[in-house]
Amino acid sequence: MDGNGRWAKAHGRPRTAGHREGVKSVRAVVEECVRRKIHTLTLFAFSSENWQRPRSEVNILMELFMAALRGEVRRLNDNDVRLRIIGERSAFSEKLQRRILDAETQTANNSALNLQVAANYGGRWDITQAVRRLVAEAQAGRLDQEAIDEQAISNRLSFPDIPEPDLFIRTGGEQRLSNFVLWQSAYAELYFTDTLWPDFNEAAFGHALDDFARRQRRFGQTSEQIEAWMTTQTQERT
Ligand code: IPE
Ligand code: MG
Repeated sequence: MDGNGRWAKAHGRPRTAGHREGVKSVRAVVEECVRRKIHTLTLFAFSSENWQRPRSEVNILMELFMAALRGEVRRLNDNDVRLRIIGERSAFSEKLQRRILDAETQTANNSALNLQVAANYGGRWDITQAVRRLVAEAQAGRLDQEAIDEQAISNRLSFPDIPEPDLFIRTGGEQRLSNFVLWQSAYAELYFTDTLWPDFNEAAFGHALDDFARRQRRFGQTSEQIEAWMTTQTQERT
């Protein structure tokens, strides 16, 4: 979710106004997922690197996060959305950690959409903690070296129950991954848009989904193989 600061600047307002406006886009995208029956959405809210921003901005972001955790639970429940936070939470204040746990508990039984909000998250952090777990299990004699395959690593990343992303959207004009779900995005379709996050509404999200729908995903196979497979699928269905 990139471009809050630039949006604010363009509107002659402080950066924090951009972050506040960005919360509205979160709501819009979450509700659009529910309407379209998209079952998984992961948002990158705050990276491990964002702590380096001016203290005042970090504070405002934490306050917004706190307010959203409390204020949005009802809406999430109304929309049958399960919220979970991915990232290293020990860096957050005790109060914020409690608020996170409360929001997760209160939405735990919802199932229309699994919403992950990445906070103090980094893709490399996630891989690192997975490796640390593998080593601990190996040292404890519970895991053989031969058993360490891709699946073993995937299973130890945050939320192994969440499917790998099909579509990776970055707003705000930058064309990079910036340490988001690195391992899991191996086959994700990348979509970059100049639209700033606060302007990323239902229509903008729809454009991204339409673009995704036009792509052919081959997973290493040839177009001919994919087309032959599609034909058999259509025949089976008719
Ligand atoms: C994204 O918007 C929000 C966070 C990283 C928390 P930015 O704050 O990065 O906005 P720009 O890039 O300065 O426009
Ligand atoms: Mg930015």
